[in-house]
Order: sequence, then structure tokens, then C-alpha cells
Amino acid sequence: MRKNIVAGNWKMNTTLQEGVQLAKEVNESLKSFKANCGVVIAVPFTHLASINDVIDKNLLGLGAENCANKVSGAFTGEVSAAMVASTGANYVILGHSERRQYYGETSETLKEKVALALENGLTPIFCIGEVLEEREANVHFDVVKRQVEEALFELSAEDFSKLVLAYEPVWAIGTGKTATDDQAEEMHAFIRNTIAKKYGKEIADNTTILYGGSCKPSNAAQLFAKPNVDGGLIGGASLKSESFIDIVKAF
Ligand code: 13P
Repeated sequence: MRKNIVAGNWKMNTTLQEGVQLAKEVNESLKSFKANCGVVIAVPFTHLASINDVIDKNLLGLGAENCANKVSGAFTGEVSAAMVASTGANYVILGHSERRQYYGETSETLKEKVALALENGLTPIFCIGEVLEEREANVHFDVVKRQVEEALFELSAEDFSKLVLAYEPVWAIGTGKTATDDQAEEMHAFIRNTIAKKYGKEIADNTTILYGGSCKPSNAAQLFAKPNVDGGLIGGASLKSESFIDIVKAF
């Protein structure tokens, strides 16, 4: 059966020293109890190698927040999937709405990033989600279906089964306005059904689908109790070890 995961997305926060300290704290806390889910932190590129050295990867997975859509070469400032993997990281967030919105990422480039991540043994945490106007116009299901189809549905069944998906309604990110557990469940069930139609029920049932958007200790348990919500992708609340661990304990 599919794995439950709580993943932190630190975004562009913490200096290297602060990040190493935070990772150590999370790692220490995870030694003190048995988590009922996988736990991952996705951190800035600059922090990956140092954090990899101070955490127990049996307790805590490590990921990047992005990678390039090119293999290598003259792409100043980019960081390749192979470089990410060479730090010891195992995950990479791809298609986050902030990347789509501020850096013009499209399904075309994301398709290339997903392929390169998989080739380098990284597990993509692939983000999808509608903006407020799309929900208000009642096209949120169409939007999310298109995001999944365009970037992911050319993958082989074997490759698709390596992905983690994250539904993050853009209107809920960093706004304090969480989707209700029923809204999350409704969309997660829809995504799973969309996957089942393409890849079959077994692969759909085995796909981990995380919820992201103002997930915090006070609402995590209610969200995670829904049958199709397999954990969370946590922004703000992952920047303090205590709140992040409280979310882990919601499982
Ligand atoms: P917040 O938890 O800060 O709303 O961010 C969610 C998110 O974007 C995680 O990727």
C-alpha cells in the first residue's frame, strides 16, 4: 500500500548555518519516537551536501526544491538533477506553483525535469493545484487534470509509479487559508481516479498524494485522516522543528 509522507519545503529560507541547525533538530526529534510516516525535508541547493552529512537518512529523507531541465553545460546558475543526486539527496520538488508563477515553468519544461530526476534516481514530488480564480470559476478539476496529463502522462507505468504528487491549491499557500479536509479529499480522490483511468487502479492506489497549503499542527490530523490524503507538503510550519514534528505526529 502507498506510503504516507510529511515533507517540509523550506523555500528560500535559512542561511546554511541556520539550515544545518534546523535539520539537526528535526533529526534529533525523530530519534525520540517512531514516526508513522516517511519524513522528508526539501532545502535550498546550497544546504544539501552539508545537511546530508548531519542527518540519519533512515529517519529523514533529503530533497532539493527544483532542478534544471537540461543535463549539463552552458546554463549559468542552473543546478542539474545529477548534481542534486551527487549531494546524497533522494527527492526533488518539481512544478511548485511558485516556480510556475514566478519563473515561467510550463508543463513542457517540467516534463524534461521529471525525466532527468528519474534518470538520476531522484523521487520527484510533483506539485499541482489551481489558483483562486480557477476554483471560483469551477474549473479547478479541469486545471489539475491538465497539469497531471501534460507533464506526467507520457511516462511509462513503471516511471509513473516512482512519483509522489502534491496537491497544493495556490489560494491556500502561505495565506493561512487551508482547504477544508473535504475539499482536499474531493480533489485527491479526483486525482487518484484520473491516474487510475490512465495507469490502472493498482498504480493509482499506490500513488502517494500529499496536501499542501497552510498545513499546520492544528489542522494536520484532520486532513491526514481523509482516505485519499497521504500526508503533507509543509511550507511555513516546516521552518520550526517543533511545529514540523507536531505535524509528523499527526499520523
Ligand atoms: P505553506 O505551508 O507555507 O502554506 O506552504 C505550502 C507550500 O507551498 C509547500 O510547498
